[in-house]
Amino acid sequence: MFPPIEPYRIKTVEYIKLLSREERERRIKEAGFNLFNLRSEDVFIDLLTDSGTSALSDYQWAGLLIGDEAYAGARNFYNLENTVRDIFGYKNVIPVHQGRAAEHLFFSNVVKAGDFVLANTHFDTTRANVEHLGASAVDCCIDTEIEKEHPFKGNMDLAKLESAIKRYGRDKIPLVIMTVTNNSVGGQPVSMDNVRQAKKILDKHEIPLYFDACRFAENAYFIKKREKEFENRSLKSIAQEMFSYGVGCTMSAKKDGLSNMGGFFACNDDTLAEKFTNLLVLFEGFKTYGGLAGRDLESISRGLQEVVDENYLSFRVSQVAYLGEKLSSLGVPIVKPTGGNAVFVEAAGFLNHIPKENYPGQALAVALYREGGVRTVEIGGMMWAKKDKVTGELSFPKNDFVRLAIPRRVFTNSHMDYVASCFEEIKNKKCEIRGLKIVYEAPWLRHFTVRMEEI
Ligand code: F0G
Repeated sequence: MFPPIEPYRIKTVEYIKLLSREERERRIKEAGFNLFNLRSEDVFIDLLTDSGTSALSDYQWAGLLIGDEAYAGARNFYNLENTVRDIFGYKNVIPVHQGRAAEHLFFSNVVKAGDFVLANTHFDTTRANVEHLGASAVDCCIDTEIEKEHPFKGNMDLAKLESAIKRYGRDKIPLVIMTVTNNSVGGQPVSMDNVRQAKKILDKHEIPLYFDACRFAENAYFIKKREKEFENRSLKSIAQEMFSYGVGCTMSAKKDGLSNMGGFFACNDDTLAEKFTNLLVLFEGFKTYGGLAGRDLESISRGLQEVVDENYLSFRVSQVAYLGEKLSSLGVPIVKPTGGNAVFVEAAGFLNHIPKENYPGQALAVALYREGGVRTVEIGGMMWAKKDKVTGELSFPKNDFVRLAIPRRVFTNSHMDYVASCFEEIKNKKCEIRGLKIVYEAPWLRHFTVRMEEI
C-alpha cells in the first residue's frame, strides 16, 4: 500500500521565510503576545486557521476569468445556485461575504431576546451572534475524553437535547443547529445516525434543524469511513442525504468551499428567504452577489464541486492524522482521533507548570512562534474564560486547546515534519515557558485584540 500522497502537483509556489530568532522575539513582544497581531510575513508556517487559506485549483483560477461582474444577475451566481442546489438540496441560495454574515442575517430574522438556540456545539461567531440578540446559545455535545478514541465526537447528546427542549420549552427554541464537523471540539464529525435521531426528536416538537455546513465534505468523508452503511456511497450522496434531514444551512465557503472568501445561506422556506434577502440588501449587497465579486461566486461553485472528491479528502484527512500521530508519539496530549481540519493539543496537560489563570494554551502558542515561526490559535481560557458580572470571578473552560489548523492543499507533509520538530524542541525546555496575564481586552471575541504580558 502506498501512503496517502498529495493528489495534485504544484503549479505556482509562494515563498515563505523564517525570521531570525531575535526578530521573532521582537515581533511577538510587539504583538502583545497575541498571534492575531502578527503580520503574515512574520510567520513561517501559518496554522492559525483553515479558513480562507486554501490554495485554488487550476479549474478555480480558470473560473476567475469568467467572473461576470454585473451588479445583478451575474452568470456565476446561477452556477453557484445550481451547485448548491445539487449538493445541499435547498431551493433558495443567497450568497454572503462569509459565514458570520449568514449567521447575522439568519438569526436576526428568527431569534429574539430570551430565546435559546441549541447546537451540538456553537462555533464562537455563531455563539456571539446568538448572544448579541439577547438569546442564549446552549451546547448539547456528547461528553468524551480527550485522548480516548471515539468515531463521532462531534455528535449531539440526544438526552441533553431532549432535556434542554423540556427545560426551555419549544416556544423559546426557534431552531437547532448541527455543526458539521464540530470545529470547537476538535473538528470532530457527526454521524448520519446522530443526525437522523436528532431530526426525529426535533420533528416531534416541530423545531427546525439547520446545519452549520462549513466542513460538510470532511464530515461526509468520516461518515463513509466510519459508518458501515455508507462505505460504498459517494461523498456527494452522503452530503445530500445529511442535508435532507434539515431545512437549511449557513455556510462559510472559506472552508469546504475551497475559496478565499465567501459563504451563503440556503433554505427551503420562501418567506424566510425573502426576509433574509431584505436584510441582505441593507448589509451585504444585492441577492445575486451578497458582497462578493462574480469571480468569487465562481470560485465557490467550482470549489464545492471539487471538495467532494474522495482522493482529495483521503489525503486531507490523512495529513491531519499524520501530524497528530507525530505529536502523539512525542508524548504531546492531543484530541484523539484527529478531526478533519486540525490537530488540537491539550496545552494544560503539556505545560502543567502553568496554571489556568496564566493561559497555558496561549503560552504554548507563543512558544511555537518563538521556536519555529509557527502560528496557531488558542482555544481555551484566553478565548472563553468568563467574568462573573457580580463577583468579578473568572470561570475557565475545561480545556486549554491549541489548534493547529491545516490549510487545504497548501502544505506538504515535510511542513508537518517541521512543525513536529518544533514541538520536540519545546518539549526539551518546556519548564522555561512562562504564563501570561491580560493587559487589554475587548467586551466580546476578546482573543482577536487581546494584549498580554509574560509573567
Ligand atoms: N461556523 C464554523 C463552524 C466556523 O468554523 C466558522 C469560522 C464560522 C462558522 C464563521 O465563518 O469565518 O466565514 O465568518 N471559523 C474560522 C476558524 C474563523 O478559524 O475556525 P466565517
